Amino acid sequence: MPETVLVVGSTGNIGLAAVKAALDTGRNVLAVVRTQASADKLFKFIGSDKGITTVEADVLSDTAIKGVVDQVRAGKLPAFQHVWSSVGGEYVADPIQGITTERLRKNLNSMFEANFFAYRDTIGYLLEQNNPASTWTICTGAQGDMALYVLPAMTQGALFPFCKAAARENENTNVRFNEVYLAFRVEVDADAVEHGVTKSSEFAKVYEMLLAAPEVRGSRVLLMNPDEDLRKLNHHKKN
Ligand SMILES: NC(=O)c1ccc[n+]([C@@H]2O[C@H](COP(=O)([O-])OP(=O)(O)OC[C@H]3O[C@@H](n4cnc5c(N)ncnc54)[C@H](OP(=O)(O)O)[C@@H]3O)[C@@H](O)[C@H]2O)c1
Repeated sequence: MPETVLVVGSTGNIGLAAVKAALDTGRNVLAVVRTQASADKLFKFIGSDKGITTVEADVLSDTAIKGVVDQVRAGKLPAFQHVWSSVGGEYVADPIQGITTERLRKNLNSMFEANFFAYRDTIGYLLEQNNPASTWTICTGAQGDMALYVLPAMTQGALFPFCKAAARENENTNVRFNEVYLAFRVEVDADAVEHGVTKSSEFAKVYEMLLAAPEVRGSRVLLMNPDEDLRKLNHHKKN
């Protein structure tokens, strides 16, 4: 029976890579999608819907992922052993003065809270299953340190202590928690070619390597340089 990866933010530049990595390593995917149009984007990128179950949910709400897990527990959706989370928001360089309250809250909701909810409401399920191969992985951005794009940077900065705590809390559990810290731009393949950045399909290799590296746990996987860090995991312990 193949393992299943629950992917939250599955239709984004980064989430698409996670779906591809899961499928390429022989796993199935339970993809949380916003709409059917988002699901179609996912199938188009992958080239098939084989191995992918989609579930529509509003990941910005603090009950959506709990609802997905409830459906898994009820046997209406496939059981999962791994979680990948990369819900995104605006990638813009507006100065602080130009950020309205509404945009600040919207982005904190999508880039911080949604990833927090994804963890809080799936970790209990993974612990209960007690599968020794389980993993929980999040993608964060180096903007959180650089703050060149202050709106996404503030949300990423908030994710860092969350990752440190989650790494510590799972040090002795069955769940291998890791943070993938990305310092260069990754976009869905066609956009990446147009903008001269790294393709989602190339970035997929990182998750493939991480899934195959049981020794990497409670760690930050650094993606500083696409030429080097997409070939070999560059990682260090969070705590
Ligand atoms: N891309 C990069 O180079 C990069 C670099 C550093 C860090 N990161 C990290 O990775 C995260 C994801 O980045 P990304 O480039 O993949 O972002 P993205 O392409 O904007 O995708 C974000 C995902 O979140 C979903 N989403 C966004 N807003 C939503 C909303 N209001 N309601 C429901 N779903 C929503 C999107 O769904 P739809 O497809 O339906 O819109 C998509 O699945 C970022 O927040 C950041 O933490 C990315």
